[in-house]
Amino acid sequence: MYDLVLKGKFLKGRKLIDGSIGVLDGKISRISTGELKGEETVRIGRGKVILPGLIDVHVHLRDFRQRSKETIRTGTMSALHGGITAVFDMPNTDPPVLDSSTFRRREAAFSGRAYTDYALSFLLNGNCDEAKKAQADFYKIFMGASTGGIFSSDFESDYFCAPGIVSVHAEDAGLIQKKPERPPEAEITAIKRALKAAEKFRKPLNICHVSTGGGISSILRASLPWVSFEVTPHHLFLTKKDYERNPLLKVYPPLRAEEHRRALWENFSRIPIIASDHAPHTPEDKENGAAGIPGLETEVALLLDAVNRGMLELQDIVEKMHGNPVRIFGIRNKGLEAGKDADFTVVDLKKEWMVKPEEFYTKAKWSPWEGRKLRGKVVMTVLRGNVVMEEDEIIGNPQGGRVDAGKGRA
Ligand code: DOR
Ligand code: ZN
Ligand code: ZN
Repeated sequence: MYDLVLKGKFLKGRKLIDGSIGVLDGKISRISTGELKGEETVRIGRGKVILPGLIDVHVHLRDFRQRSKETIRTGTMSALHGGITAVFDMPNTDPPVLDSSTFRRREAAFSGRAYTDYALSFLLNGNCDEAKKAQADFYKIFMGASTGGIFSSDFESDYFCAPGIVSVHAEDAGLIQKKPERPPEAEITAIKRALKAAEKFRKPLNICHVSTGGGISSILRASLPWVSFEVTPHHLFLTKKDYERNPLLKVYPPLRAEEHRRALWENFSRIPIIASDHAPHTPEDKENGAAGIPGLETEVALLLDAVNRGMLELQDIVEKMHGNPVRIFGIRNKGLEAGKDADFTVVDLKKEWMVKPEEFYTKAKWSPWEGRKLRGKVVMTVLRGNVVMEEDEIIGNPQGGRVDAGKGRA
């Protein structure tokens, strides 16, 4: 007898299966095409599909001294609402996570407050000894300044000494200084430099939010198995023209001309990861030019809407927001198979809704897609066998834990 049985259509690999998933002690115990018996059975009705819990490898949850922008609580509630069961927290906080004691504070801040599971990061800038002490799940390098203003004075040496996978914000510091509008060259130059270093050091590198045709083609041409990259929904669905109409859409790297957006779509099948770069700010900070777009509560729905438009398939979402993140970041306790955490994102592909940011859990009560009608919605989120979000309501207390990326748990 299982604690919980989820019954309905689920996607396993490329196949849509009608069956049951048995959950015991928060773990997937059995995946079956037949019936399973549980203490509790959740029937997922017609038109809905059970996906493995989707993961967002790039979010800025603020907190610390920036609780007015977002807190771990509001940010992870927002994640659950958007169908995300694990988030990767970025370290450009205030104070930034540059030493092991701040890392320990970050760990403590998440404990008991996070509604999703989480991976924790450490910001590299000439502080490798501290990085080794911290034992983060991943490491972040800014090649040029972004929110928080910190960037590496020596990218190669920070990358070389990183104790684990590095996520890099690739925009060239010198070019940003000369051209504050951050043209495509700022990104392309930095990406080429990062690729050179990756060729030399042969260490895991994940290039964040690739936004240019030249950037994506350089990465694909280099084709280094230890190099991955992310693309954001805002770079897939918006352009510079949208920014010209709406200054709130200021973001680093900036929204690009249509030709770049097209290049991302032309290479869509080779994009390993889609991540939101959820970057909440207060309205005042946005008015004063803060860069960043909130995305946790719209990213999956935008992709579902695109599935309905024939631009991608449901399994692409699973590949880019579950399978690849798990593999690339080495998350041992996630995956749609027996023994892994019972995390699920249930979607209704046909449900139509309108984006109303005032109803969102994030403190950033705006969205580039405000007022937009989307077809496709996340209707339920399950974290380790518990239904934690249903029909826009968060259920229960924070139950998030740190993902197992092998740190101290080998
Ligand atoms: O627009 C951005 N906002 N880009 C970044 O790289 C950082 C982020 C933030 O933290 O606000
Ligand atoms: Zn960035
Ligand atoms: Zn970011």
